[in-house]
Amino acid sequence: MITLDAPAGVHHLPIEAIRPSRFSISLYGDPDREIDGDGLLDSIRRGGILVPLVAAPEADGFELLSGHRRLACARRLGLETVPCEVRAVPKGSGRRRAILDYNRQRRKTFSQLMREADALESLLGPEARRRRSANLRGSGVEAGSDAGADGRNSDGRGGRTDETIARAIGLGGKDLYRQARAVWKAAASGDARARSGLAQLDAGTKSVHAAYKDLRRRARLTTGFRPTPYDVWAFRRDPSYGVPHPGSIPAGIVSHTLHYFTAPGALVVDPMAGGGTTLDVCEAMGRRCLAYDLDPVRPEIRQLDVRHGFPLEARECDLVFCDPPYHTMLAGPYAAFGVEPEPLTGWIAFLNTLAAHAFAALRPGGHVALLLANQTEKDLPAGVGYIDHGFLGYGALTGAGFVPVRRISCPMDGAYLPQHVQRARRDGRLLGQVRDLLVMRKPLGENEILPGGPAQLSGSPPASS
Ligand SMILES: C[S@@+](CC[C@H](N)C(=O)[O-])C[C@H]1O[C@@H](n2cnc3c(N)ncnc32)[C@H](O)[C@@H]1O
Repeated sequence: MITLDAPAGVHHLPIEAIRPSRFSISLYGDPDREIDGDGLLDSIRRGGILVPLVAAPEADGFELLSGHRRLACARRLGLETVPCEVRAVPKGSGRRRAILDYNRQRRKTFSQLMREADALESLLGPEARRRRSANLRGSGVEAGSDAGADGRNSDGRGGRTDETIARAIGLGGKDLYRQARAVWKAAASGDARARSGLAQLDAGTKSVHAAYKDLRRRARLTTGFRPTPYDVWAFRRDPSYGVPHPGSIPAGIVSHTLHYFTAPGALVVDPMAGGGTTLDVCEAMGRRCLAYDLDPVRPEIRQLDVRHGFPLEARECDLVFCDPPYHTMLAGPYAAFGVEPEPLTGWIAFLNTLAAHAFAALRPGGHVALLLANQTEKDLPAGVGYIDHGFLGYGALTGAGFVPVRRISCPMDGAYLPQHVQRARRDGRLLGQVRDLLVMRKPLGENEILPGGPAQLSGSPPASS
């Protein structure tokens, strides 16, 4: 039993008598993990605790309302007592409200704000429902009907509650709050893109509105997708799919490939997934996706050097979507140990290896899609105007045994800075925009291979009999 030296005000309480609040930890995380981040530990070591903690008395000690990090630091430093203001806040919802109030001025991550909102919704929800029923009774509208006479939401939560919570957590008005909740709930239900948006929101690199727009745009692939009927796929990059990555491609290229060459539920493999555009488009269009990369940037993308082949789990897949580095063109931003620094001969050997591994992984009748850009600007042998990577890819795929299905033009969008364009105009030079998606099929059986076999298609000399 602790006896206080004064009924109110600041006391020096023994550390072991103070219990951290589980509610606070559920919102803001374990303070032990955040001790070292901003120098608080050092400051307490040097000057002690300058701002008292706040705790509520209980039968066998105190529950901490404010100062969890300070308490964690004090424990780490082996202090025996801490200055603490004791406030008799009753247990239950009043105490939870007090914890939220005490934390109002702390700098919080988006996830912490949303956990606060979860807590406030469950505290204020019953109140709002009571208010709404009273309003409905007063206006003669049935309590079970969709919209109240006061225009409240059909989910039973009033606009007033959203407004109150938005203000309480400092997130602007109810519209922004609703966008934030949509992202938060999609992330909680496992939506990979929303989870990546959440990580960006927590890091402060994305706005709530942008993350919400990403989610809304994605819905367009699930409902009302209108594919172009032409074999020129000129799409702009779309930040709703894939996380930022130097090589990310427009989602439209992937969505059209899925639409034309796979069925719902198909297994798609992307062995060089980069920011995961294929993953996100597959999810939006109901395809299963296995994504790999030499240098994965998302937890759903597994580490793989495709030069060593595809993993067993990828066997019998329906589509292999390959967006390799375009030879040396983006060598700088990618992992140094990738295939892109290879000389042209090494790069051609890589295309052949990739084609052979894709062929081995696909089921008969499955498709490979290989996206390649012509090399026009950089690393060209003396006197050579361009390297036709589409042609090299054609050779590699047919050489592995694939049957050509379609060559689709996917011009590159926005690849040049205004100064590049200006310089090209001044020099009277053409800037390369050509990029091709080669789609080929693994034959169903030997009969399907064209007379003369794959060697004839690839242009290499037929094997002597
Ligand atoms: C053009 S980017 C893919 C971009 C992706 N389509 C997107 O939309 O974000 C090419 C990727 O190939 C990866 N890569 C390079 N060599 C590789 C290898 N040997 N095995 C697997 N991935 C490799 C690079 O790390 C890079 O992420």
